[in-house]
Amino acid sequence: MHGMIGTPKIAARHVCKVYPGVDGPMVALDDFSLDVADGEFVSVIGPSGCGKSTFLRMVAGLDTISSGTIEIARGKAGRPLNSVVFQEYAIFPWKTVIENVAFGLLMRGVSRPERLAVARGWLDRVGLAKFAAYYPHQISGGMKQRVGIVRALANDPEVLLMDEPLGALDAQTRLVLQDELMRIWEETRKTVVYITHSLDEAVLLSDRVILMSAQPGRLLATFDIDLPRPRSAATMNTPRFSEYREMIWSRLSGEVARAMEQQQ
Ligand SMILES: Nc1ncnc2c1ncn2[C@@H]1O[C@H](COP(=O)(O)OP(=O)(O)O)[C@@H](O)[C@H]1O
Ligand SMILES: [Mg+2]
Repeated sequence: MHGMIGTPKIAARHVCKVYPGVDGPMVALDDFSLDVADGEFVSVIGPSGCGKSTFLRMVAGLDTISSGTIEIARGKAGRPLNSVVFQEYAIFPWKTVIENVAFGLLMRGVSRPERLAVARGWLDRVGLAKFAAYYPHQISGGMKQRVGIVRALANDPEVLLMDEPLGALDAQTRLVLQDELMRIWEETRKTVVYITHSLDEAVLLSDRVILMSAQPGRLLATFDIDLPRPRSAATMNTPRFSEYREMIWSRLSGEVARAMEQQQ
């Protein structure tokens, strides 16, 4: 697996999550193990309700683990370990675009001139410099999600956790942001765990795609994506891309059907 050497950046071992359901305990995640190497981009896909968000929240430390362990290797001291980007625009409506992007730096005690400079640099990179003084309600959904993404990146996190960050966007905006995300990742090489329900997006962005089973969520298969980088939207038109897509879909479609039956 990717010639992973030494300690993985994220090590999830035999992770279980049990929720107290209405008809008794409900196993959301069952014996789920996953190692993510430093600098690796890993996507997790699986039918809706299979425990993807639950897993991500546990990695982020936002939810408790019922059993098993999740460890994130420490990097430079004093750094925040991870940053999370959610599907819904989790940005502060009462702060301007630039204040939102600079927020994590403010929390870390970075001086005002420095945090504004860093935030401005990120806004520049994603074409939002002109909107620095706008409030979230004055910009589009795509722009808001860009703000959410660069706000996470401005913290220079060691691990970036993204839960369907482009899920709420229209198809065209989504393509543009996919491209941007790919470009930024290829420059920064952050360790990323990326949840998506888009198979195309998973194949396009990832070094490795993890397929989860319908509830209770288990690891079903992993796929190394050996498409050359840099990639672009045009990568999706290559035969290799279609092969990956078909290979993964042949496994995923059965799980989606199973999940739909469970919900009936
Ligand atoms: N806080 C919660 N309390 C009880 N059940 C939950 C809670 N969060 C999620 N679940 C249940 O756990 C399962 C996995 O949910 P989730 O992780 O959100 O799935 P996914 O992100 O893959 O769609 C679902 O059946 C969901 O209803
Ligand atoms: Mg989810």
